[in-house]
Amino acid sequence: MKQANMTLDRAYVIDRIDPRIYGSFIEHLGRAVYGGIYEPGHPTADENGFRRDVIELVRRLNVPVTRYPGGNFVSGFDWEDSVGPRGQRRHRLDLAWFTTETNEVGLHEFVQWCSQANTEPMYAINLGTRGVDAARAVVEYANHPGGSCWSDLRRKNGADKPFGIKLWCLGNEMDGPWQISHKTASEYGRVANEAAKVMKWVDPSIEVVACGSSSSQMPTFGDWELQMLDECYENVDYVSLHRYYGNPTGDTRAFLARSMDLDAFIRTVAAICDAVGGKKHARKKLHLSFDEWNVWYHSREQDQEVWKQDKWNRALPLLEDVYNFEDALLVGSMLITFLRNADRVKIACMAQLVNVIAPIMTRKGGGAWAQTIYWPLMQASRYGRGEALRAIVDSPLYDCGDYEAVPELDATATVDEEGHVSIFAVNRSLTEDIRLRADLRSFDGLRAVEHSVLHHDDVNAVNTELKPDEVRPVSARGGELKDGYLEITVPALSWNVIRAIR
Ligand code: AHR
Repeated sequence: MKQANMTLDRAYVIDRIDPRIYGSFIEHLGRAVYGGIYEPGHPTADENGFRRDVIELVRRLNVPVTRYPGGNFVSGFDWEDSVGPRGQRRHRLDLAWFTTETNEVGLHEFVQWCSQANTEPMYAINLGTRGVDAARAVVEYANHPGGSCWSDLRRKNGADKPFGIKLWCLGNEMDGPWQISHKTASEYGRVANEAAKVMKWVDPSIEVVACGSSSSQMPTFGDWELQMLDECYENVDYVSLHRYYGNPTGDTRAFLARSMDLDAFIRTVAAICDAVGGKKHARKKLHLSFDEWNVWYHSREQDQEVWKQDKWNRALPLLEDVYNFEDALLVGSMLITFLRNADRVKIACMAQLVNVIAPIMTRKGGGAWAQTIYWPLMQASRYGRGEALRAIVDSPLYDCGDYEAVPELDATATVDEEGHVSIFAVNRSLTEDIRLRADLRSFDGLRAVEHSVLHHDDVNAVNTELKPDEVRPVSARGGELKDGYLEITVPALSWNVIRAIR
């Protein structure tokens, strides 16, 4: 059997893990809101129209923060449309997704849903068609206690206490020509700077995220970050990164290597932030908000058909990727990559949460179930808390189309408050198990091993409403702890959570 070694030391800590790296995203897009989290009349709907079965799955997934309301949607969104008496809210054409937005669910409802789902809102403002004035108004509406025009309107609309939204996105993907009112880097940097400044004047406790590139593949990538940060470095706290991967050619080995690209992307953006900070003699270090990430390609053709048949309708079935087993493996490796970069990546939002490129799917009037990608996120969020460890991994390597020297065992580790060590590992080999030997001698009192494995013989296997458990983790045996070393077999093509517990 192939061998891999991992060396961990209690003193080799990358950083504390910010729990917000296990965040998610709900956009007014497709059936994410209408027919996803919200379906009045559904057998499980509560008095607010929220599906309790979905809330239960979200609570189990454990997403500490949820970005909202877009996405591309936000660049044409007037936040004022989404508050006030529901029956009087305006219906608007959404030019991002060619649907009609009824605003039945808005700011108050979303904040309410967040408290039920045990998550914090991360609210995006519109820096496409709107600007500084709307930005300061919505912070005042949401966070100011009272005694001013916007905060009193919130109170009149039924929320006496401020929402206290701590995290704000300064627009979305403003580098992308597909954006409603796309901007150049310096145009965006100027408005982001001014918006951040006045938003913080209204509420100094908030943190704000500036839009980085919508992907590392953009022709403006790099220059965009340099130019826009030149304008707004002092007033922002995070830079966003977005990245989606696909496997249209069915090359599993190359697909599973994509997390190497993710790692390079993160390191490059961190380096650019530091370069701008250095140039500005800044003491402050910017952190990264990877606020859109996932696999996304299964539904692209289907979406064109939907629009051909049904433009401008409400809640069109868009971006409904059905995730297979290999997608879950790449998602696992993406999570491992965030942990490895825990000193810079402080927020990450799987895009998205329900129905739209999502870990949770629903049927109108029917069930809600977990897609394959639900499991690695759920397990990482549950066990990947505390401190990220600098794991030295010596693994067999392979070459594939785009990458050389790809580790067959992609692995990292964390240690939590109680001193339990969790190893997260993806075996990328299609055929071969790997025997892992981990040096844990510097950790006190470890006495037992737990092992959970996600594997399926078919990389294309999926979960459905009728077969919701086709792909799900199972407990495995056989791990041993002896003289401070953990030995365990990591099966071919699998996501693993291996815990050495006290
Ligand atoms: O998550 C789907 C879309 O992908 C978002 O609206 C946009 O920001 C990105 O291009």
